[in-house]
Amino acid sequence: MIDLIHQDWFVTAEGQCQPRPIARPWELLQDHYYLHQFLSDIVQLLSNAATETDQWDYLPQIRQRVRQLMLNSYWLTTQRAEPDPKTGAAVLTLYDEIGYPLTVQTVTTNPGVTTPIHNHGTWGVVALLEGQERHTLWRQQANPDRLERVGHHTLRSGEIISFCPEAIHQVETIGPTPALTFQLYGDTQPQARYQFEPDPFLAKPF
Ligand SMILES: [Fe+2]
Repeated sequence: MIDLIHQDWFVTAEGQCQPRPIARPWELLQDHYYLHQFLSDIVQLLSNAATETDQWDYLPQIRQRVRQLMLNSYWLTTQRAEPDPKTGAAVLTLYDEIGYPLTVQTVTTNPGVTTPIHNHGTWGVVALLEGQERHTLWRQQANPDRLERVGHHTLRSGEIISFCPEAIHQVETIGPTPALTFQLYGDTQPQARYQFEPDPFLAKPF
């Protein structure tokens, strides 16, 4: 874990990627941190939120739990699916059951794979376990609807990026090796999740 970059980021609705303070890594080390403990901790944290839209107030604490998992779970890095030869990507769901409100997964992507421009319709925390990816950040402006490219952020192994529900990004896997990410999302509202075309502006369900 020594060569990992320990830095957290937060992407605003305006497409600004802001650094966020983190605990010192050695303060987060423990004997083990099982996935079931992590999931219970997240559910416990979110139970403090009065409404679903208040959940992302807890992003600092959620990011810290994700970093704890990253630092203390070797198992996590073994949870990867082989990328599909056609799409160059693979998603492995780590936990799900009927009614469970969170998305918990690892995603493996080959170099060169680029996602559509999209939002998630909920908060999200993504930890880069291996490789590198470039997040291009956009913001949506109304009347008339248009999409403006704000900038980009290159995420390196060990970094965590988090998103408010309105954040819009496009992710490209860069560098010579595949990227492996751990991804956690809140309760996705299907009517709030879109992929976008910037010119001419188009938003369609994602
Ligand atoms: Fe995304």
